Amino acid sequence: MDPKKINWNTVNRVIEKYKDMKWGLIPLLQDLQEEIGYIPPDTIEPVAKATKLHPSEVQGVISFYSGFSTQPKGKHVFKVCCGTACHVKGGKSILNHMRAELDLNEGETSDDYQFSLETVACLGACFLAPTMMADKEYVGRLTPQKVKSVVKHHRKEDT
Ligand code: FES
Repeated sequence: MDPKKINWNTVNRVIEKYKDMKWGLIPLLQDLQEEIGYIPPDTIEPVAKATKLHPSEVQGVISFYSGFSTQPKGKHVFKVCCGTACHVKGGKSILNHMRAELDLNEGETSDDYQFSLETVACLGACFLAPTMMADKEYVGRLTPQKVKSVVKHHRKEDT
């Protein structure tokens, strides 16, 4: 399936849920991203209309929150922590191993939309440093071997 093809039934269902709600914009965008995986730029106009805002205001909110993305992401998203606690425990080297395993730089998505690699400032799990998130799961006390096996596990899941 082409990840750039918008499922308008889903978009309209989400928009309908928050239509005319005074503070509905952020939960609407969160739902949209959760359901579609990203916020397609073509949805900004209908979202603005439903929430009675100007499209530039919607765009402004999307740009302000780093959690929102207007680009499709991979099926699996790896977020490597680059916060201080993780940095001290070798986070940079973990990031380099992730780059090598996935053949991606941070902020990139593989051509087949299987993987995205991101960095974050702190995952709030410093006691597990160095830490990352593999989709919604925390993976801590990372080593190069653990990085390899996490990526391998997610590759296997898809075969
Ligand atoms: S610094 Fe990495 S989880 Fe907090």
